[in-house]
Amino acid sequence: MNKDFLSLSDWNRSDLDKIFDLTRDLKAKQKQGEAHRLLAGKTLGMIFEKSSTRTRVSFEAGMFQLGGHALFLSSSNTQMGRGEPVKDTARCMARYVDGVMIRTFSQQVVEEFAAYCDVPVVNGLTDLYHPCQLMADIFTVMEHKGEYQNLRFCWIGDGNNMANSWINAATAFGFELRIATPKGYHPDADVMERATKQGANIIYTNDPREAARNAQVLSTDVWASMGQEAEQQKRQQDFVGYQINMDLLKLADPESVVMHCLPAHRDEEITDEVMESRHSIIYDQAENRLHVQKAIMATLMA
Ligand code: CP
Ligand code: NVA
Repeated sequence: MNKDFLSLSDWNRSDLDKIFDLTRDLKAKQKQGEAHRLLAGKTLGMIFEKSSTRTRVSFEAGMFQLGGHALFLSSSNTQMGRGEPVKDTARCMARYVDGVMIRTFSQQVVEEFAAYCDVPVVNGLTDLYHPCQLMADIFTVMEHKGEYQNLRFCWIGDGNNMANSWINAATAFGFELRIATPKGYHPDADVMERATKQGANIIYTNDPREAARNAQVLSTDVWASMGQEAEQQKRQQDFVGYQINMDLLKLADPESVVMHCLPAHRDEEITDEVMESRHSIIYDQAENRLHVQKAIMATLMA
């Protein structure tokens, strides 16, 4: 079993499925009000170099429900934010806490942090990946569709951290994925190459309609991610036609489900109508961050 949860590409399907089994168990216990204090007396340090609503609240509430404690550390008031080397922060944090969650820009920072940190490190989003989100996403699909294996998934929009993580998920779990991005906005080239070498069933296209056709699961995300705010206007022009709306949904399976990791820009990458429609499983997806991350933390830290 790995020490850290940094990328789905580091994990095999059987260990990920075990996390889903534990998620199911912990979610049932939480719903029934049954104690599940698997991390009693333990502390999670949470380092945030970017904004967050869901990640912060779900990790913090999750630690509390598991009998532990979570510590919110924003880069604006830690020494790391003033330039203290990552390896020094990592080594000291490991002396105080039982696990660390980091949200930052570069995946290299998370990798370096984990290499110097003697306790488990969880990636709470980088520019490259968002693995906890993908675990919540696949778990939510299983709840709604009963499985993930034989479904046709599609990603429509930016080839960003979420798209890269969908590629890793398709590789690890072995489902079919179609990715439609505008030219110049494809996913990370190394991530695509590794998936291809590993025989992943992924089609890349610039045609959102081709990606959506007969899809059972459609997913998207904002066109300008955190750190790309200055490109917002250009991206809004470049992504015309990549919106998930009711017309696009007509091409998909009639019982298709629609996902978005949130926060969303309504009527940009996805319409308000789709978000409020029977197809949307977006809020279950958000809820499952809590349950799946509790299982990840219990797996790594118990
Ligand atoms: N989906 C997600 O990670 O949300 P936050 O940015 O609010 O944490
Ligand atoms: N791609 C988005 C995801 C936010 C959860 C971002 O990185 O801002």
